[in-house]
Amino acid sequence: MPEVISSPGELKDRIRELRRTGSSLGFVPTMGALHAGHAALFDSASSENDFVVASIFVNPLQFDRREDLERYPRTMEHDLLVCDQHGVDIVFAPTAAELYPGDQLAFVDVPALTESLCGKFRPGHFRGVATVVLKLLNLVQPDRAYFGEKDAQQLAVIRRMVQDLNVPVAIVPVATVREPDGLALSSRNKHLTFAERGIAPVLSRALQQALELLLNKERSVALIRQSVLPLFAAHPEIRLEYFAITDPNTLEPMEHVDGPALIAGAMWLGSTRLIDNVSFRSERRILWGPSGGPV
Ligand code: PAJ
Repeated sequence: MPEVISSPGELKDRIRELRRTGSSLGFVPTMGALHAGHAALFDSASSENDFVVASIFVNPLQFDRREDLERYPRTMEHDLLVCDQHGVDIVFAPTAAELYPGDQLAFVDVPALTESLCGKFRPGHFRGVATVVLKLLNLVQPDRAYFGEKDAQQLAVIRRMVQDLNVPVAIVPVATVREPDGLALSSRNKHLTFAERGIAPVLSRALQQALELLLNKERSVALIRQSVLPLFAAHPEIRLEYFAITDPNTLEPMEHVDGPALIAGAMWLGSTRLIDNVSFRSERRILWGPSGGPV
């Protein structure tokens, strides 16, 4: 079983010890409720580093809705088993009081990257994410930190923070892990009712349809939206938050696609919010096959 540390001071001491032996360190920040998506991050980290630290911390600073924070699944015992099976050596699991001992007065903001997509609908969310990730990176001081492409805007924000603030870490992206029907794995999928779970793959299907249109040389975002939006409208249970095609770096909406693009969407099913995205890199690529994995 991995070593579990909750005190930031103890973690720093332990990391200092590891560093003395010249070991390389990979870091995977999570909020727990671990699934095969997180496990893919652990696998990448353990194949590329001597030691792997994972954090499990449901960060209050990044929740814009109180009920989302309160009902966020907490499954520590199961999480430790997943960490154990996927090469995690140390789990850092502080309490909120340990990580935020006083009032937090300093924050990290990347406003230009957080005004579109999810940022538009979740005020303060990415500020909470960037702030906790910088705190965690400062405590762990890893060589590499691993983030899922599933949360594309989060990945873009963290990359930019690291670049602009000269944080000495390499950010490693990991491909989205999906269910066989295309639904991206997410801790929030647990909240879906049986009927909602049946409808949920519409999001990944719509993204794939948009990608197919781009691969078939359709370049007008208006026309792509016209073709894709009826997929959502066919299900009155779906409340579409956004479906956008943006520049992958600036995250600004595009009208005409003339290079790489990020296709991203967010929708509500009942009280559960789902997000997903795919990248258009202008080469032909099948996203997932009948077995669920990339083919
Ligand atoms: P969490 O949602 O637990 O996700 C932790 C990491 O797992 C993120 O980098 C996320 O992109 C990745 N991940 C989630 N689902 C995935 C999937 N289906 N395939 C591949 N990777 C997946 O993201 C957060 O926590 C928090 O915002 C955090 C970065 C820990 C800061 O609090």
